[in-house]
This record gives sequence, C-alpha cells and structure tokens, in this order.
Amino acid sequence: MLACPLCSAPLTAVDNGVACPAGHRFDRARQGYLNLLPVQHKNSRDPGDNLAMVEARRDFLNAGHYAPVAKRLAELAAERAPARWVDIGCGEGYYTAQIADALPHADGYALDISKEAVKRACKRTPALTWLIASMARVPLASGSCQFLASVFSPLDWEEAKRLLSPGGGLMKVGPTSGHLMELRERLYDEVREYTDDKHLALVPDGMSLAHSETLEFTLSLAEPQDRANLLAMTPHGWRASAERRAQVIEAAEPLVVTVSMRYDYFVLQ
Ligand SMILES: C[S@@+](CC[C@H](N)C(=O)[O-])C[C@H]1O[C@@H](n2cnc3c(N)ncnc32)[C@H](O)[C@@H]1O
Repeated sequence: MLACPLCSAPLTAVDNGVACPAGHRFDRARQGYLNLLPVQHKNSRDPGDNLAMVEARRDFLNAGHYAPVAKRLAELAAERAPARWVDIGCGEGYYTAQIADALPHADGYALDISKEAVKRACKRTPALTWLIASMARVPLASGSCQFLASVFSPLDWEEAKRLLSPGGGLMKVGPTSGHLMELRERLYDEVREYTDDKHLALVPDGMSLAHSETLEFTLSLAEPQDRANLLAMTPHGWRASAERRAQVIEAAEPLVVTVSMRYDYFVLQ
C-alpha cells in the first residue's frame, strides 16, 4: 500500500528497504522504520517535535496519566474494525500502540514528521509500519484506509480524505476549552479562551461528523517531574514565563488539573 513520496508509484520491498519502478529507493533504518520524507519536502532540518518534547511526552504518557484517553480511543477504533488504519502525527507512539492492541488483525501504519519521535515509537509495536513522513503528502495509496487517527496533532484534511475509502472515517482527538484549566490559570494572568469546535469548519465536502463525545477526569500530579513533563510536552513549556513555570513545578502541594478531551469521528460518504 506504500506509495513513493516522489512519484506516487507503488513501493515494493527490496533488500533492506522499499523502491518504486522509477528507481526511487528508501532504506529501512536499524530501528525498523522507513524514512519516506525526501529532503526536498522538508521545511527545516529537523521538522516536527524535538527530542526534549518527545521524551517529556513519552515519560508523562508512560506514567499513565492519560491512560483513560488512550483506552477510550482504542475502544472507538475497535468498534470501527478497519482492515487498514493509520495514526497521523503519531508522536512517540503511546496512543498508536494501544490502537494496535485493539486491532490485532488489521494492517496498521503510523507516521510523524519528527525523526526523534518515530525512532522511539517504532520500538513499541514493531509489527506496525512506522514512517517518517509528512501528513501533507502521506505515502499511501488513495482510498486505501478505513480508519485514521489524529491525536493532538495538526491535520491536513484534504490528505486525510484522500486516504479514506468510502464509509471509512477519521477519529480526531483534541482538548476541549476546559482542558488543563487549573494549570492555565496558574500560568497566565489572562487565560486564553478558545472554542473547541473550530475544526468543524475545516471538514471537507464529502465528509461529515458521525459521532462526538467528551471524556473528562481529574489528575493529581504530586511529582515535580510529572509537572515539568506536562509543561514540556505542551506549548505552555515555551509560552508561559520561566517564573510561573518554576512555581508550578516546585509547588509543595500536588497540581490538581482537569483533563478534558473531545473525540470527533468524521465519515467519508
Ligand atoms: C502534540 S504531538 C502529538 C503526538 C501524538 N499523537 C500524541 O498525542 O502523543 C503532534 C505531533 O505532530 C507531528 N507533526 C507536526 N507537523 C507534522 C506534519 N506536517 N506531518 C507529520 N507529523 C507532524 C509532531 O512532530 C508531533 O509529534
């Protein structure tokens, strides 16, 4: 199902990699992933999340703080029972691995533009096809997927639509306006308001919202390292002042925060 990122022709397995009939060849990395992001499609030397963000997110997620979010996502994926699925913007693969566990007989792919993320992600579930690739040019055939996941990631809607077969769908998971509110109140004098449904205006013709739900729970973060990781894996890690961040991390009492997620499922007619 892989398509050449340079000419879109089908890629087939060759010695330690994949190649297309035009002779474009991509080696498999020692860790097992394929790098299908040609240098001419990169807009910086190391695009996507950097090592510090990837490691902070990995440690925070591995500690289980967002386990209910992943569990619900895996249940929703299993209900759709796709033959082929892709996690677009998979990061270091925490959610991807749980989708894979819920879909043991499906053909699973995961991609991210960050090399540091994919290098770590592919260790979680070697049976998946892990790709360094751009979500703007996903190296997979048109109409080849029944389920796409986009978790806390930017999204190229038209490209997602191109990948889906009719009846297939995209599960988008993201924060509601109340997500981490107590943390934001500590970090900023004025908490930025945002609406959590502005992505609905971006849904392309031919796709429609088929299901929506929210998941909310409270976290109590007693360890300074957990609070530091939470800050480092979000934009608050650079947006908030160093002084406010230090106050949050070093506070004597646990940080009690609301986790509030929205799951939207869009189907291609
Ligand atoms: C907030 S992280 C979410 C990662 C993962 N889904 C999770 O929730 O743990 C957003 C991810 O999108 C990736 N990303 C950003 N732009 C991208 C692009 N154009 N193509 C593919 N991935 C991209 C980043 O590298 C990062 O890993």
